[in-house]
Amino acid sequence: MSAKHPAADLQPTLRDYESRARALLSADRSAYFFGGAADQQTLAANQKAFSELELLPRVLRDLRGGSTRLTLLGESLSHPILVAPVAYQKLVHPDGEAAMAMGAAAQDAAMVLSSQSSIDAAVVRAASPGCNWFQLYWGPSRDANRALVQRVADLGFAAIVLTVDAPVQGARDNEARTGFQLPPDIAAVNLADMPAAQFAPLAPSESILFDRVAHITPRWSEVEWLCRKSPLPVIVKGVVHPADARQAIDAGAGAIIVSNHGGRTLDTMPATIRLLPAVAKAVDGAVPVLMDGGIRRGTDVLKALALGATAALAGRLPVAGLTVAGAAGVSHVLRLLRDELEIAMMLTGCASLDQITPDIIYRNE
Ligand SMILES: Cc1cc2nc3c(=O)[nH]c(=O)nc-3n(C[C@H](O)[C@H](O)[C@H](O)COP(=O)(O)O)c2cc1C
Repeated sequence: MSAKHPAADLQPTLRDYESRARALLSADRSAYFFGGAADQQTLAANQKAFSELELLPRVLRDLRGGSTRLTLLGESLSHPILVAPVAYQKLVHPDGEAAMAMGAAAQDAAMVLSSQSSIDAAVVRAASPGCNWFQLYWGPSRDANRALVQRVADLGFAAIVLTVDAPVQGARDNEARTGFQLPPDIAAVNLADMPAAQFAPLAPSESILFDRVAHITPRWSEVEWLCRKSPLPVIVKGVVHPADARQAIDAGAGAIIVSNHGGRTLDTMPATIRLLPAVAKAVDGAVPVLMDGGIRRGTDVLKALALGATAALAGRLPVAGLTVAGAAGVSHVLRLLRDELEIAMMLTGCASLDQITPDIIYRNE
């Protein structure tokens, strides 16, 4: 039997992080962060579809001066890996989103702060000199939405990410089974000033669920309004249909994120990596197209870029880093992802992000 290296327990690899995080969390928190909706088919599909894509390298290309740098919405970023918005991070670490922001900034990774952040946006900004975007779930009061957007703009957030794929929560069977509930000391503190109507159901009638959400669910007119009024670019997250992508651009979106919410909303949606090419084709370079869902390896980021993404976001992977080792764990996870992306670029003969084309995806024809 070969002896285990002494560092094996100290230094997890990308693959180890999620299992270590799950082992550290209670069953209900593990279900909340690492589970998906209903039968979790979409959760599984996101990763499976990446592993089914095979890479076809080119050799002997000139890699001198290679880099992963890009410009996104006018911001120069040293690599195309962003941290996706994830709610209530104090559930996995006492410093929550502040530690996430520190870890992201250490790797020069842009981070999207969830509107359901358990730490005040001002504290997160103070912890992070880096590029931060703020994710918004539309509320029923235009004034309250506008005030929140203005507040985060004043704090130095660089963009608004409007999430449109979750007018209602998915069927979260796993959370229900484990009895997941927010403890009283963890809340969406940035929404404290939002009118109570945002969360309060109307008097139920024939259809309790429709009644509860129909009046707070944004429509295209709200997206147009927000794009007009926002001092920051608006990125629409959760678009998967090419026609919706075109409509988002017509509404004024500065970018689009192809996402199925990490398999937490509508189960049996296809993997986002399979939906990405048609959206990228429809957008045709008019705005950047980003994607998330299933990013677990640097090769996944490479594949996303090959199929039309300008950048990719990771949700659960940085959360696993945060759970295992706080800001240092986040930083380590992102460092590993960056390194793996660079390794994969060099091994496929790509010296820059624009050299990552669909040709590097193997087609068995
Ligand atoms: C526990 C959890 C909470 C999330 N909270 C939000 C949120 O508040 N807002 C949002 O737009 N997306 C949210 N998402 C979705 C992520 O932003 C992202 O789309 C997804 O996690 C990407 O898939 P991945 O985890 O496989 O990387 C959440 C995801 C998870 C796992």
